[in-house]
Amino acid sequence: MTLAEIAETLVGRGKGILAMDESIATCNKRLASVGLSGTEALRRAWRDLIVTTPNLGSCISGAILADETIRQTTLDGRPFVRALDEAGIIVGIKVDLGAKDMAGFPGEKITEGLDGLRDRLAEYAVLGARFAKWRAVITIGDGLPSRGCIEANAHALARYAALVQEAGLVPIVEPELLMTGSHTLEQCAAATEAVLSSVFEQLATGRVVLDGMILKPNMVLPGLDAAEQDPEDVVARATIACLLHVVPAEVAGIAFLSGGQSGELASARLAAINAIAAARYTRVPWPLTFSFARAIQWPALQIWAGRDANLARAQVALLKRANCNRAALVGDYDQAMELRSA
Ligand code: G3H
Repeated sequence: MTLAEIAETLVGRGKGILAMDESIATCNKRLASVGLSGTEALRRAWRDLIVTTPNLGSCISGAILADETIRQTTLDGRPFVRALDEAGIIVGIKVDLGAKDMAGFPGEKITEGLDGLRDRLAEYAVLGARFAKWRAVITIGDGLPSRGCIEANAHALARYAALVQEAGLVPIVEPELLMTGSHTLEQCAAATEAVLSSVFEQLATGRVVLDGMILKPNMVLPGLDAAEQDPEDVVARATIACLLHVVPAEVAGIAFLSGGQSGELASARLAAINAIAAARYTRVPWPLTFSFARAIQWPALQIWAGRDANLARAQVALLKRANCNRAALVGDYDQAMELRSA
């Protein structure tokens, strides 16, 4: 398959991407939140539950794994990569090494992981990965994000994306503006536009092929502590307006991150975004889908809580969130879906 075909299969067929690529430290944090200790055995068991969820492939086109996860196997001895392949789900891999404090820029982060990336990509391709992800983390605040932080992260994203395409994989380019803070929706829109402009400038300079990449942005939202929390249609209009200003039409597709929104809110906003995109007057040139982690996984993790007896119920809850998001892409999502038991 060409890069454009892989990208189109991921984003263009009424399904979305499941991010299950938490680092060991973040996965341990999630396990601790339901009272579990962070052991390799429990991380494997949790990811086993996810990849063996019946019918997951009816809603999910691709799953992003982490370095540990792409090497693990299910309880019945199948590599996760094979289990996903058998479910019709394309395997992806998170290749950045995390966001670290940026020297000279207090309160801001720069994502690391470019050194040795060419060799790591060659190994991941052999292991079965067909796409990759790199996340830049941008804070909105007093005077933030700074020009220096925006440009450094945009440059790293472009260098990553070029290396990924060289290796024959599709890059997911993820510049995430965090929801933390009390900024308004308008401030988020301005900052998101500045970041995405810089990212596409660097992608062009870095000769990244746009129809062989996927953008994974935040929705345009007010901060979690903002006095005014805008309704879904306002969020949807602001998000689409921002993307139309700065994202070239050639980009294969856009897959939103959830960023810590509840599962229900993320689905409702995704549905509102797609409703506007489907309107004839909008002329949105890209498929708009999801690439959620917490907004799909969280209810299932709470139900499972490490107990085998809860496994089947947890898988049903996981599929329910995946299915709500699938429905949000095609105008089938409504509140009644949330009220029906998983
Ligand atoms: O990099 C972040 C994940 O891929 C998406 O996670 O949906 O929990 O924000 P999230």
